[in-house]
Amino acid sequence: MTHMIQGYSRTNDPDVFDTIAYVTFQELATRISHRNTGKYTREPLCERLLSRIATDENLHMVFYRNLLAAALELAPERTMAAIWGAVSDFKMPGSTIDNFGRRSLQIAMAGIYDLRIHHDEVLMPVVRQLGLLTLTGLSAPAAAHQDALGKFLEDADAKATRFETRRAANEARRAESR
Ligand SMILES: [Fe+2]
Repeated sequence: MTHMIQGYSRTNDPDVFDTIAYVTFQELATRISHRNTGKYTREPLCERLLSRIATDENLHMVFYRNLLAAALELAPERTMAAIWGAVSDFKMPGSTIDNFGRRSLQIAMAGIYDLRIHHDEVLMPVVRQLGLLTLTGLSAPAAAHQDALGKFLEDADAKATRFETRRAANEARRAESR
């Protein structure tokens, strides 16, 4: 309840570019995590309910992604900076809840939302749809953010693979001890 009353702000002073960039990724992240939570329950009614919510989240994402595409056309330098900020420091709105670290690890171990999903199903689809890594004619600061984004994504991909390997080893150990 405290969390609901306090609300959530990613940065202390976000402007419209920061906000649109953040919510584009965040709405997609909620779509994926709601859908996967439903599947995890193996409870048909819960699955249907969360699938319905995930459909709405997708519409929110498309709306914000369209705004982000328009912002990129109008103000590419400011928008690339906002995208870099949103991607490089991405946190879900629940990150200020008590024990979020422990909870998010449980969520990752359950395969509901982990770095592989974040990279493959949240970051990359938006990056590809907006052509963020292939945009040309950018100013020097925007090109630097584009470059940083490319490196960040490669790094996230490698970290995701390391996490998957650790999780698989963990699961194998647990299966052996059963
Ligand atoms: Fe939403």
